[in-house]
Amino acid sequence: MNLENIGQYIRSVELQRDKIPSFTRYPFCLSAIRNLYNLKFHPKVTFIVGENGTGKSTILEAIATAYGFNPEGGTKNFNFSSMDTHSELHDYLKMVKGVSKPKDGFFLRAESFYNVATNIDELDKGGGGRRIIDSYGGKSLHEQSHGESFLALLINKFRGKGIYILDEPEAALSPTRQMTIVSRIHELVEQGSQFIIATHSPIIMAYPNAVIYEIKEGFKMVEYEETEHYQVMRDFLNNTQKMLDILME
Ligand SMILES: Nc1ncnc2c1ncn2[C@@H]1O[C@H](COP(=O)(O)OP(=O)(O)OP(=O)(O)O)[C@@H](O)[C@H]1O
Ligand SMILES: [Mg+2]
Repeated sequence: MNLENIGQYIRSVELQRDKIPSFTRYPFCLSAIRNLYNLKFHPKVTFIVGENGTGKSTILEAIATAYGFNPEGGTKNFNFSSMDTHSELHDYLKMVKGVSKPKDGFFLRAESFYNVATNIDELDKGGGGRRIIDSYGGKSLHEQSHGESFLALLINKFRGKGIYILDEPEAALSPTRQMTIVSRIHELVEQGSQFIIATHSPIIMAYPNAVIYEIKEGFKMVEYEETEHYQVMRDFLNNTQKMLDILME
């Protein structure tokens, strides 16, 4: 797909390679980053997929931070910090934004969603005014299951015309609920939203109004059926016994 001259809130990021002191240490040593020049985003949905440890969370966090989100996740209003583990990659990304500005936004990290939930509870303890949790469905995210609280976030908090950067939104969700996520993504896209999503879910990455970048040596644009995730899952479901025999021999 040609992504020239179209774009939404985030059009592309360019790695300012000449400013990078050395490609031998994290995060610059990752082959995904060593081979990164310019990454163009789909105006609706961009998926970043690939094996564990290829750098999906690293690039997502850098894009979110470069855009002004708290590296640990949340809306732009969150600025808590519980650990300072994010990389400096965002300092070397030049971001090209679209002409219009989003009205909503969220950076979801599976690993630190717990901290976002804690932060909301703490802010609401102060009392007075409208409770923050009300815009998340009203029930403390800590009093819901992992999957339920994710879904509450997507359904109640995301309002459309937004930029949503999601790291493994399928975490803790059943296959049926992953399909719910696909229809929610579609609703929000129809309401003028843009998503950048790192995922391992063959269900979520099937969403068609999208490009998929698979990280191998670098970021490669692929079709859904070409992704390793799709092929492995298809082969496993079509030949379960044969695959199990191989795995257990
Ligand atoms: N703070 C850090 N310092 C050094 N290396 C790190 C740091 N954070 C991550 N790494 C390494 O960088 C690589 C990419 O990590 P990253 O979390 O971006 O992978 P990922 O593609 O999101 O993987 P997963 O699918 O398991 O979530 C991994 O090999 C990881 O060990
Ligand atoms: Mg990750």
